[in-house]
Amino acid sequence: MIRTNLDIRIRDSIEDHMFGLKWWLKETKDVPLEEMASFFDVRIDDYVPHMERWDEAYRTFPKYIPPDARVILDLGCGSGLELDQIIPCFPNTDFTGIDLSTAMINELLSKHPEVNIIQADYLKYPFGENIYDAVISFESLHHLLPKQKQGLYKKIRSCLNGNGVFINCDYYACCDEEETLLLNVYDEKRKKEHLPTDALVHFDIPLTLEHEADLLESAGFTSCSALSSHSGACFLKATV
Ligand SMILES: C[S@@+](CC[C@H](N)C(=O)[O-])C[C@H]1O[C@@H](n2cnc3c(N)ncnc32)[C@H](O)[C@@H]1O
Repeated sequence: MIRTNLDIRIRDSIEDHMFGLKWWLKETKDVPLEEMASFFDVRIDDYVPHMERWDEAYRTFPKYIPPDARVILDLGCGSGLELDQIIPCFPNTDFTGIDLSTAMINELLSKHPEVNIIQADYLKYPFGENIYDAVISFESLHHLLPKQKQGLYKKIRSCLNGNGVFINCDYYACCDEEETLLLNVYDEKRKKEHLPTDALVHFDIPLTLEHEADLLESAGFTSCSALSSHSGACFLKATV
């Protein structure tokens, strides 16, 4: 697999980021995990201001999508913040979004009624074969364990057509220490709360770009490239 630019700078200072993260983990150590859909349902009113830090990333997204993409799937489309930027640049493209949260989906449909919506868990929902020119996602997949990503990336690879691309703008770990720390805390919290293995809960467990590339390679992608990073949200593009 061709790997490009995976040493991109994700955080201005790894030291400062890790210091802040450790402080936050200490502060929140007794806060219970919340079920994924309800986590976003109850935060819908504060959602736009919360995501404003990534305005630049949202505005950047359209330029990374192949201009001739006609059929696009958005995983974890939420209330449509990335689609707000992408749809006007792709007036003849058919968009499908998958999300769990009723409140987020209703907000998206109020702005973009033309988007095909699937309210489902993207880990379980079948995407089909050779359908999409691009699969995109913004700040959703960092809630998944490596094993869950492995299965998801295989489905993404299969649903893309021969020239297809997968573009994920997401939270990636800036170092191995961040990845290991968050995976360990997540595991401890799940054990403490006796959560069943398939319970989807909100907690950030980002992987490093190298570990993402390993999973993409094992799913059959032939190249993987980090494109740019914006306030901790980094674009990773994989090609079939
Ligand atoms: C941080 S929000 C991002 C939403 C949107 N992409 C944006 O940037 O505004 C993450 C979204 O992923 C959705 N999500 C998380 N896990 C999911 C899953 N397993 N299946 C479908 N949607 C999921 C959540 O419901 C939520 O709307």
